[in-house]
Amino acid sequence: MARRVADSRVEMTEIVMPNDANPLGTIFGGRVMQLMDIAASITCLRHARCNVVTASADSLEFRAPVHVGEAIVVRSWLNWVGRSSMEAQVEVLAENLRTGERRRTSTAFLTMVAVDEAGRPKEVSRLELESDEERLRFRQAGERREERLKLREKHRMEEAD
Ligand SMILES: CC(C)(COP(=O)(O)OP(=O)(O)OC[C@H]1O[C@@H](n2cnc3c(N)ncnc32)[C@H](O)[C@@H]1OP(=O)(O)O)[C@@H](O)C(=O)NCCC(=O)NCCS
Repeated sequence: MARRVADSRVEMTEIVMPNDANPLGTIFGGRVMQLMDIAASITCLRHARCNVVTASADSLEFRAPVHVGEAIVVRSWLNWVGRSSMEAQVEVLAENLRTGERRRTSTAFLTMVAVDEAGRPKEVSRLELESDEERLRFRQAGERREERLKLREKHRMEEAD
């Protein structure tokens, strides 16, 4: 069975409240990361329809702050699906609710793995690609995955030393 990228897309919107903020009145990074992890999890849960765990998060950038009183919009979609792992791309936008102006503030790639009741990796549905853009994202994500697995191997070797 295959599921489309569109079947698991997520967009979440919240107002940034004072208890989300640092002393500068802007959202703190840990809260943004939490929202990104939640959005990516929902995307991967919609695709896999079983438990998923976060295996890695990379290329995280905080390009601009989001202020208290602004909306934070978190979008997530799948770029790539393997046997049990999935790469979700997450994009964060800040929206000034008075003017409607939106700015892109953060992006990241999260790899999630579908697991069974015992926490073992479990096969998921194939990703059906419907456009040239989706095919390009799939190819690029496949290259990033190779780099992640090399890094994982390197960390394992270092730990074994
Ligand atoms: C993620 C986890 C299930 C992988 O288990 P594992 O025994 O290493 O399994 P495998 O080596 O067979 O990897 C399973 C899949 O994950 C992928 N994977 C594992 N680690 C990865 C990493 N660091 N980056 C990218 N992909 C990774 C593998 O490539 C494989 O993909 P595929 O099935 O699509 O080919 C395991 O490491 C784990 O439980 N980690 C903790 C997760 C967690 O607690 N997250 C935070 C809270 S949710």
